[in-house]
Amino acid sequence: MKKMMIALFTGFISLSAVAQSDAAKALVAKMTLEEKISLVVGMGMKIPGMNASDGALVGQTMDKVAGAAGTTFSIDRLGIPTTVVADGPAGLRIEPTRAADKNTYYATAFPVGTLLASTWDTKLVQQVGTAMGNEVKEYGVDVILGPGLNIHRNPLGGRNFEYYSEDPLIAGKITAAMVNGIQSNGVGTSIKHFALNNQERNRNTVNAVVSERAMREIYLKGFEIAVKESNPWTIMSSYNKLNGTYTSEEYDLLTTILRKEWGYKGIVMTDWFGGKDAVAQMKAGNDLLMPGTPMQKKAISDAVNSGALDVKVLDENAARLVAYILGTPSYKKYAFSNKPDLKAHAAVVRNAAANGMILLKNETAALPFAKNVQTIAVFGNTSYDFISGGTGSGDVNEQYTVSLVEGLSNAGNKVDNDLKGSYEKYLGGYKTLHPKKSFFEEFVNPTPRAGELTIDKETLAKKAAATDIALITIGRNAGEGADRKVENDFNLTAAEQTLIKDIAAAFHAVHKKVVVVLNVGGVIEMASWQNQVDAVLLAWQPGMEAGNSVADVLNGKVNPSGKLATTFPVKYDDVPSAKNFPGKEFPEQATKGMFGMTQMPAEVTYEEGIYVGYRYYNTFNVKPAYEFGYGLSYTNFNYSNIKLSNTSFNKQMTVTADITNTGKVAGREVVQLYLTAPAAKLDKPSAELKGFAKTGLLAPGQKETVSFTLTESDLASFNTNATAWIADAGKYTVKIGASSLNIKQTTSFEMAKEVVTQKCNKVLVPQVEIHELKR
Ligand code: BGC
Repeated sequence: MKKMMIALFTGFISLSAVAQSDAAKALVAKMTLEEKISLVVGMGMKIPGMNASDGALVGQTMDKVAGAAGTTFSIDRLGIPTTVVADGPAGLRIEPTRAADKNTYYATAFPVGTLLASTWDTKLVQQVGTAMGNEVKEYGVDVILGPGLNIHRNPLGGRNFEYYSEDPLIAGKITAAMVNGIQSNGVGTSIKHFALNNQERNRNTVNAVVSERAMREIYLKGFEIAVKESNPWTIMSSYNKLNGTYTSEEYDLLTTILRKEWGYKGIVMTDWFGGKDAVAQMKAGNDLLMPGTPMQKKAISDAVNSGALDVKVLDENAARLVAYILGTPSYKKYAFSNKPDLKAHAAVVRNAAANGMILLKNETAALPFAKNVQTIAVFGNTSYDFISGGTGSGDVNEQYTVSLVEGLSNAGNKVDNDLKGSYEKYLGGYKTLHPKKSFFEEFVNPTPRAGELTIDKETLAKKAAATDIALITIGRNAGEGADRKVENDFNLTAAEQTLIKDIAAAFHAVHKKVVVVLNVGGVIEMASWQNQVDAVLLAWQPGMEAGNSVADVLNGKVNPSGKLATTFPVKYDDVPSAKNFPGKEFPEQATKGMFGMTQMPAEVTYEEGIYVGYRYYNTFNVKPAYEFGYGLSYTNFNYSNIKLSNTSFNKQMTVTADITNTGKVAGREVVQLYLTAPAAKLDKPSAELKGFAKTGLLAPGQKETVSFTLTESDLASFNTNATAWIADAGKYTVKIGASSLNIKQTTSFEMAKEVVTQKCNKVLVPQVEIHELKR
């Protein structure tokens, strides 16, 4: 059991900076072989209940910041300090309390990645990053292990909440904004998991078999944007294999593409205990092995001594690492306060969260609450036990989470006390039966959420008579180590279906409305039940101010302006990767890995190719429940006056359109630009997102002109035969819309001649034929 606690994670890591490369090389020249090796292998981590005799895999982690995930080695004689890395995307994950210390070290739980992407607001995300980075710095950490930007390939992905979108443009732009915000504090980020870590099942062994085109266009594109637009100090390679090789051991991924093609200057670190062959990792350009084990040091040392590893390779890895260290607060001896302004950051959370919530449905103007709504009947366990964020390393040790009922009370709404009492009693009892477990215990054996409290029809009838509106929260949580399931997770449980049905019947019988709040980290099925309710607010997992942010939207203090960056399909079987997720397992080849854990060889083939998310649904006319880019507002917007700067394309083109608030309240609109490219030479999706803009807060009647710039690369697709990005000649249709299916304005231009926008290296070619989906 201890043994199972393994692996998978935790921690800290080191980061990288750019500039100091000469100084770094000079320092490396002064190092002994042992010192160089110490540097490229982290200091290890403590796993509760384990010690070196369990396999000598555990190093001597330094508790510089309790609860951080890892540290790098110090070389005192050369003035090189230990640096500290800590998780993770939704805020800094450190221990909130420390032995023999009365102070607390709570960090802010920010909204999860999926919510932040739903704001489509890079300025806002940068503000979130700035606040988060301040906590990193003031708690003495050098690098935060995030943001995460793997693609939402399948709604069951256990870590989707940590990631942004099914679309690489929005994932890349949001990541760049986040990295720029965090790093403006003089601390680093580790964008992760590079690349194709799109599932948790068998994440340490699975071989992702993917075409060059899908890899480049869908799975690497976001990383490329982030590297070019924000220069993250560090990148974390992923656990999985890519076309046969562990990503952390793949030279063509970490060096040919990342460094040579994209110009990345920072360090690459492994995910915790990721990959197998330390020497191959060094050669690939994976500079830092985390959390670091004595065995890895020995392997590298033996390889240098036998000539299997050229010491020059190690020198380069070490020099990049030193360059990173020279840029860190630890090197600069920053006197951190341990007192970030948590109150100010809570205000950032509340605002960001409200701006990323999505109004999916609002019939008969059920929301915002009408003036005659006095008392609210609040149903659903989750209303009383709201979920701020997901589990695993993406979790944060925050001081509090404002529940929905607390948020409503804070806003002056009156909630039905009798229901409140029943739910609190029920949930209190459940908590007593399931006391809080440690991080590792919870990882190995997650506590299930309490089943929905059953409320009989008679009580519902009484409540419908006594209150003015019903609010039901549906909650979902997930995290690293496991994917979600179709039954009782993607699909609602029978108890949830019954609750919705019975409440809708009781309240509608007396002409009162029913509103559902979705407190989920990922996509769920909605088609079977949403017709029964009047309004649905997708609140995602909004961070620690949760209930306050939801109340702001329900009361109309904030007009919802979030839109979906991931599709809600009608049913799971509609998902293009459904038949290739999580792939095949080969139990007969299973072995025992680290700490005696079973290593199950597995393979997943990306047969849907580039047709991920809306690229699939819209091209193949599969109607989703809610499409990519969708989201309602309490007001309406009119789109007009689309204009191009030129009629034919020459290097670049500006597209403008006017957006006018035609409704009665102020609001913001997310405006999306989709492009349909000529498909004579290559199969292409019906349209792809190529730009987005969010208006300012427009007063009723107010107009804003939004502007987009298209460059040659925006027109290009990856042509596998030519191993190049090519903008084909022909007609391009520009579509400006309120969602991927709600196109408001269309125009077109001609591209006279094809342009090769980037020639690439023929690398990472799949070793088997993939029967990819084609139009
Ligand atoms: C996760 C990473 C995390 C690391 C350190 C791993 O299990 O996959 O995302 O940063 O642990 O905690």
